[in-house]
Amino acid sequence: MEISNLKLYNFKNHHLVDLKIDSKVIAITGENGSGKTNILDAVYYIANTKSYFIHHDSLVITDGQKECSVHGKLIIDNEDTEIGISMGESKKKVIKKNGKTYSKLVDHVGLIQTVFITPYDIELVFDGSEIRRRFIDYTISQLDKNYLYDLVEYRKVIDQRNAYLKSLDGNKLDDFLIESLNNKLIPLNERIFKVRAEFMLEFNDFFDKYHKVLGAKETGKIIYESQLEGQDYFNLLKINEQKDILACRTTAGIHKDDLIFNIDDKQLRKFGSQGQIKTFVIALKLSQFFYLKKKTNRIPLLLLDDIFEKIDESRSMKLMELVCSDGFGQIWVSDTSSNRVKKHFSPFTKSCKYISLPYSAEQSNHQV
Ligand SMILES: Nc1ncnc2c1ncn2[C@@H]1O[C@H](COP(=O)(O)OP(=O)(O)O)[C@@H](O)[C@H]1O
Ligand SMILES: [Mg+2]
Repeated sequence: MEISNLKLYNFKNHHLVDLKIDSKVIAITGENGSGKTNILDAVYYIANTKSYFIHHDSLVITDGQKECSVHGKLIIDNEDTEIGISMGESKKKVIKKNGKTYSKLVDHVGLIQTVFITPYDIELVFDGSEIRRRFIDYTISQLDKNYLYDLVEYRKVIDQRNAYLKSLDGNKLDDFLIESLNNKLIPLNERIFKVRAEFMLEFNDFFDKYHKVLGAKETGKIIYESQLEGQDYFNLLKINEQKDILACRTTAGIHKDDLIFNIDDKQLRKFGSQGQIKTFVIALKLSQFFYLKKKTNRIPLLLLDDIFEKIDESRSMKLMELVCSDGFGQIWVSDTSSNRVKKHFSPFTKSCKYISLPYSAEQSNHQV
């Protein structure tokens, strides 16, 4: 899977960028704040119809502008594919594949796999559980459309149930209504739990391998934690009914799932050194890369944001060795130094395009 052309119009700080690409590695260089990460995010945007960093859709439009678009020409499974995402004044996103508008956003998911390695990945260790659920959901959704539909439906029913609990305001529960909502939630919970548990079993093998390959001395493990483990969801809802009424929301279910990261059976976030945490997080992303590669038979687009500056050389060289061997995919890198990028990629490929920001149109065809 490769991008051959990427066009940005009013995307974050980029007014107009048009990149023609015929290389395996695309290095975006420039000073801090020049918009390097934003270009990688545009690649992510094409693949996932949303920004990796910004959760409010319209904030990707350049300040003061009313519309924006990102267009990509890609080669997917040897076929030319064009993806266009645009947002006009109504802020409604329109996504097109080969000129045809998708009727539902979810239809696009699974076409283009990306793995984004950024300095913010550390949030996977220290933030709340939502970011870790997003990690598993993203990975599974690339392969399993039914799982994605279940997630969307689950969100909808949970929102309905929570709105109902909120509206109670001391009134008695309507048994019929709550039961009908519960009956929708039960199979969704059980299916999502099962898929996540199976995924984690398989993913742990990938993780164990790449954690060791990156030089970890300890044994790293990801433990899937769910209230549904050994519990029937029907019972869980019954046990928690009074609690739910008081809290005005559904307190049990797969929306509370979490991943516990351990090294040598101790919690990484409490006992891990800085180096151990970095290795763990890169191993997670690397496992995601190789897991998706194996399952989809495509090499995901790899987005490496500023990582050569942030991790030590032996780790970053090892990382390069892994992602550049065994079939080369397309890699988008951002760095303040083009020499540093050169140093990391020159042992593996000569096919490298350098784009230095601020962008000028002549650069588009310039190949080093
Ligand atoms: N919607 C937007 N409109 C205009 N500028 C934006 C928007 N979103 C982000 N930016 C700007 O993009 C710049 C950061 O770009 P970034 O890609 O993070 O830079 P780099 O990775 O080169 O350090 C910041 O100056 C930020 O203000
Ligand atoms: Mg950056």
